[in-house]
Amino acid sequence: MVTPHGHENIGQVEKREEMAGRLMVALDYPDVAQAKCLIGKLEGIPCYMKVGMQLFYAAGPDFIRELKAHGYSVFLDVKMHDIPNTVRGGAESLTMLGVDMFNVHAAGGTAMMAAALEGAAKAASLHPSLRIPLIIAVTQLTSTSQEIMNTEIGIAGAVTDTVVRYAKLAAEAGLHGVVASPQEAAVISAACGPEFRTVTPGIRPAGSSMDDQSRVMTPGQAILQGSHFLVVGRPITASADPRQAALNIIEEMSQA
Ligand code: C5P
Repeated sequence: MVTPHGHENIGQVEKREEMAGRLMVALDYPDVAQAKCLIGKLEGIPCYMKVGMQLFYAAGPDFIRELKAHGYSVFLDVKMHDIPNTVRGGAESLTMLGVDMFNVHAAGGTAMMAAALEGAAKAASLHPSLRIPLIIAVTQLTSTSQEIMNTEIGIAGAVTDTVVRYAKLAAEAGLHGVVASPQEAAVISAACGPEFRTVTPGIRPAGSSMDDQSRVMTPGQAILQGSHFLVVGRPITASADPRQAALNIIEEMSQA
């Protein structure tokens, strides 16, 4: 667990535990060995583990089962986008794996998003030990600029308007939240309600490298904007001391 500091009261310790559960560490690695090396360094910190396409396509479902057996909450970030029937089946399989969260593209439309929920509900109803994971819609990728959205993808207007429109569709379809920039968290909460989760990548502690992210916020700012979950990759994985980097982020989240 996250170790108590000197004269802390129970409230401060609990706050840090809660914040650790809202930190999602992106295991962006090509193989299990490298992922396990990082996980070992984070031992005892009750954070979420986010497994994306690179690791899932290489390591497969067994690695997810292993993470679950070790008690981790798992966000499987595979961004499904297909016809409703296929997504329904995919969601059923992911729910059977016991993941706590997975995602689909909002651009697949409400029928596709609703099908994801149906697939998850079916798996959960067949297996009483399983519950329906949080199903999150990807709005606009944070790598998509206004210009790309307007000229290549063919959606007119401002990125924020599209993000909010997609968030409303996701809520209508019964999904539990969206992936978005922390800069959009407040406007999404205003449009879809405070219970509708915002999962926000693009987190950079003050003074750290931006890498390829452009619309970034610090962990503290993201919490103040109302982000429910903070996705953090390189500020932890590329740090010389990943454990300390994660603890510093949790501390900043707790202080916000
Ligand atoms: O290293 P960094 O903190 O930039 O990693 C961010 C993580 O969040 C990566 O795993 C990336 O795939 C994911 N992500 C993102 N932007 C999105 C959706 C997911 O950066 N819109």
